[in-house]
Amino acid sequence: MISYYNERAEEYDDLYIGKGHFTLDPGIYLKDVTKVSEMASEFGNGHLIDIACGSGFWMFSYARNCSRITLLDQSEKMLKECKKRVEKLGLINLVNFIQGDFLEVMLEDSTFDSALVGFLLSHLTIEQEKFFFLKLKKILKSNGNLMVIDSAWNDERQKYTKKEGIQERVLNDGRRFKIYKRYFEKSDLEGMAHRYNFKIKSCYVGTAFIAVILERV
Ligand SMILES: C[S@@+](CC[C@H](N)C(=O)[O-])C[C@H]1O[C@@H](n2cnc3c(N)ncnc32)[C@H](O)[C@@H]1O
Repeated sequence: MISYYNERAEEYDDLYIGKGHFTLDPGIYLKDVTKVSEMASEFGNGHLIDIACGSGFWMFSYARNCSRITLLDQSEKMLKECKKRVEKLGLINLVNFIQGDFLEVMLEDSTFDSALVGFLLSHLTIEQEKFFFLKLKKILKSNGNLMVIDSAWNDERQKYTKKEGIQERVLNDGRRFKIYKRYFEKSDLEGMAHRYNFKIKSCYVGTAFIAVILERV
């Protein structure tokens, strides 16, 4: 995972502009990017942590709602791309960067008012997911909320891939990586919310992406 996303860092945003090695029609990604951006622009408050922030793509939507933003990712090259975006958006005084594995890095309890996690949960096994939420609930304030953006499962997706398993990913230069990936239907995210004592406040189900805003119960 680390080496795949490190090597993909410079081409990662291709996904969001409908370019690159992707199976679904590029127009589908463009539509879902617009819808999820609209949802993210209504999300976030106080100190937000963007977990596995990658290039920080969603920041342009949520940043204006936040008084502080922590951008965390384990990939050095992803954080380098993210820093370029922060500078372009003029947000350098608002943010701090943490390089590390979210499941391992030390974070203060009850620090964050909101958290966003994009396309990480789909790379975690159920055991890792449990640990993710255990940690998330410690670092979130008691009224903190969470936005999850991830990959949608549906008939269209089923034409190209399995709902869960090891996938081969190909970079623009042809290098190949194997990664674990699972896809989510709305019912999967409802189950996840229930398992960890959250409730769904709003939801967008697209063809490529699915997004939910969760509040603690
Ligand atoms: C598919 S990208 C998503 C980037 C961003 N969240 C977005 O929505 O555009 C997944 C990111 O998760 C990071 N990552 C994977 N596992 C991680 C972990 N355990 N802790 C922190 N970052 C992780 C990768 O380095 C990569 O940048």
